[in-house]
Amino acid sequence: MENTAKIEINDKSIEMPLITGSEGEIGIDISKLRSQTKTITLDPGFVNTGSCESGITFLNGEKGVLRYRGYPIEELAEKSNFLEVSFLLIYGELPTPQQLEDFESNIKMHTMLHEDVRHIYQAFPKDAHPMAILSSIVCALSTFYPDFSATDSNAVDLAIWRLMGKLPTIAAWSYKKNIGQPFVYPVNEYSYTKNFLNMLFAVPATDNEIPTEFEQALNVLFILHADHEQNCSTSTVRLVGSSEANLFASISSGIAALWGPLHGGANQAVLEMLKQIHNDGGDVQKFVKMAKDKDSKFRLMGFGHRVYKNFDPRATILKGYCDKILALLGTPDPLLDIAKQLEEAALTDEYFIERNLYPNVDFYSGIIYKALGFPTDMFTVLFSLGRLPGWIAHWLEMRNGVSKIGRPRQIYTGYTERNYASLNQRN
Ligand code: CMC
Repeated sequence: MENTAKIEINDKSIEMPLITGSEGEIGIDISKLRSQTKTITLDPGFVNTGSCESGITFLNGEKGVLRYRGYPIEELAEKSNFLEVSFLLIYGELPTPQQLEDFESNIKMHTMLHEDVRHIYQAFPKDAHPMAILSSIVCALSTFYPDFSATDSNAVDLAIWRLMGKLPTIAAWSYKKNIGQPFVYPVNEYSYTKNFLNMLFAVPATDNEIPTEFEQALNVLFILHADHEQNCSTSTVRLVGSSEANLFASISSGIAALWGPLHGGANQAVLEMLKQIHNDGGDVQKFVKMAKDKDSKFRLMGFGHRVYKNFDPRATILKGYCDKILALLGTPDPLLDIAKQLEEAALTDEYFIERNLYPNVDFYSGIIYKALGFPTDMFTVLFSLGRLPGWIAHWLEMRNGVSKIGRPRQIYTGYTERNYASLNQRN
């Protein structure tokens, strides 16, 4: 195969190098396109555009493959824990026992928030969405740690431990603020997930037992969400970081990007859709029909994916967990029945089959979160906690690699030059 691609534009022919990735995917390096041809590419939604070379996560949407640093997601979900996977993503290798112990204890040294951060919570309205609080407080951390330096590896490690340690506390407190309960402080002898569940659900008046199964389920959910290459929020973290904004500000922008219902916010949207179907009488077929109707804006939330066009391997793992958790809890829930009917209806419907629209990770994660007792508003926050090591890994890779500010171009379609009319001449 040729190692260049020939492009002909306006009778001019130029050759662009082909870049081949380690899994065989090929990209055309168009970095000289504009300087040599005065033309640019236009690719709304970046469907065909690679923004970087990356060695963190490989996914093959056609075959349903997802690997972190070469390790299959199925194996990591079964055998690893979230902090181990976080280390793998951030530093490139699975940790030795000593490295894991150090990483965990360094993170646990930073689970508490400065008491002044606690006061910031008082300024938010009672019903503030926890994603808005999460993004704001993470950005506010940059004011508490202003001496952060991206070029000092010790300072970067410290910021990583602070983010990993504090995000569960920030997240749990955003929920406590919302429901008017006292903030629960971190307990460092607990595991990462147990500590978070405790801060979320414990109240001073009674003892709080965290079932081991919940702790384990959350561990798997976090691992499955930990990275997904150049998705909307990760690309946002890279883009913001490319301006040399600090790590806290970059992660804060990633949280904002994740919030949207077409991205991480889909897990909340799934539950809202199930409620809508339930309140409407539970006729699943009616909503499937609406999702197919091109005159309606309604979409089945939790179905379809930009990259996975066969199946989402994370969804396959979670479907198994979903059945296990539901059986364990044994509590009937009409919304969960609707979810099952919807899944069945969509999987056997021509429209969804033809377009390769399968349940994605958010469909099952939303159902599991609901079964575990998480409030709907917190679903996307849980996604953020899982995605944090991925965002950090990409920020680091971007900072340590070709550090060029991200600055896309555009095809301008507005007015050409026209004369200014003073105020009294306009009608
Ligand atoms: N329900 C009904 N029709 C759909 C859906 C859906 N959920 N998703 C896509 N379609 C149709 C779409 O109308 C289009 O039909 P046609 O070819 O007739 O015009 C076709 O399928 C292709 O859709 P698209 O919008 O061009 O696909 P995309 O790659 O731009 O969008 C998506 C991917 C995930 C944004 C979209 O499938 C969607 O909106 N899904 C619902 C939201 C959701 O579950 N998001 C979570 C994604 S997974 C978590 C994450 O990684 O962020």
